[in-house]
Amino acid sequence: MSKYLVTGAAGFIGRSIAAALLARGESVRGVDSFITGKRSNLVGLEAMEFVEGDLADPAVCARVCEGVEVVYHEAALASVPRSVADPVGTNVNCVDATLNVLVAARAAGVRRVVYAGSSSAYGDTPTLPKREDMLPRPISPYAVAKLAGEHYMGAFTRVYGLETVVLRYFNVFGPYQDPTSHYSGVLAIFCRKMLAGEQPTIYGDGEQSRDFTFIENVVHANLLAGSAPAEKVAGQMMNLATGMRITLNETFAILCDLTGYSGRPAYVPERAGDIRDSLADIGLARELLGYTPVVDFREGLRRTVEWYRAGGGS
Ligand code: UD1
Repeated sequence: MSKYLVTGAAGFIGRSIAAALLARGESVRGVDSFITGKRSNLVGLEAMEFVEGDLADPAVCARVCEGVEVVYHEAALASVPRSVADPVGTNVNCVDATLNVLVAARAAGVRRVVYAGSSSAYGDTPTLPKREDMLPRPISPYAVAKLAGEHYMGAFTRVYGLETVVLRYFNVFGPYQDPTSHYSGVLAIFCRKMLAGEQPTIYGDGEQSRDFTFIENVVHANLLAGSAPAEKVAGQMMNLATGMRITLNETFAILCDLTGYSGRPAYVPERAGDIRDSLADIGLARELLGYTPVVDFREGLRRTVEWYRAGGGS
């Protein structure tokens, strides 16, 4: 019987959480539909019980929640531009799937669901840093869908007593992030291109900033969120980030150093649905989970470049 369920276990964040749980000797079940997850991400996770299935199907959710104590719900169709191109697909895979997971978790007697929220919920408001008590202003369909999931988490704690914890991720990057899709995160795309000597593209003037968060910090916070006392965390939503921001232009310069790329980026018009600046206040996660980042941005970027250089993600 598996104690933990990781949804999206063949995706970047899901596989990283599953690997950490297995390393701790836990019994883990993973589920993935392979819409965006990759079979190659399951290499090294052989000790995990794996189920191929789509969480948009309630029967799949019922099957995978059986006997589980804690669910890490990481499955989603990540990407703002993908949601602009296909809002219904994003809704099915983010909102419907999340509600199905919650219904099945409750029916199976799961104790806690930890949910991957998104900083996109804050939208393009000028106030920085973003704090959890600010009114959400989602711009893109993706942001709306991920935010709906957060509200479902809160409702399931309030009305059914299911322990839920929302971690609002800020631009996660690191090994195992897919660098090959048009919808990939910017750092994965830049690493792949610059290592191959290809020119990266910057949408807008490159002065937009993000609170890029290295995957190990995300894994660390998830493990804390799985075991923190219910009195402290049940029904709570908190930012999960590094607590510093950097512009794309500055990031490009660091990547030139790390990859040896000596060209210039191509500047093209800004992307629809994008926000300008993003920075988290991480005080609440510190207070509720005892979270502090374990790897800083530069070191995370260095490890990420090394992973792609060694052939990861290709
Ligand atoms: C958003 C969310 C993030 C979520 C992610 C899921 C915010 C602040 N963040 O990230 O929490 O996890 O969606 O996908 O809303 N860019 C380029 N060149 C490229 C690719 C991207 O210049 O080749 C630019 C984008 O225009 C954007 C920035 O890089 O300004 C970051 O883009 P991306 O990595 O896609 O993430 P967000 O959309 O910021």
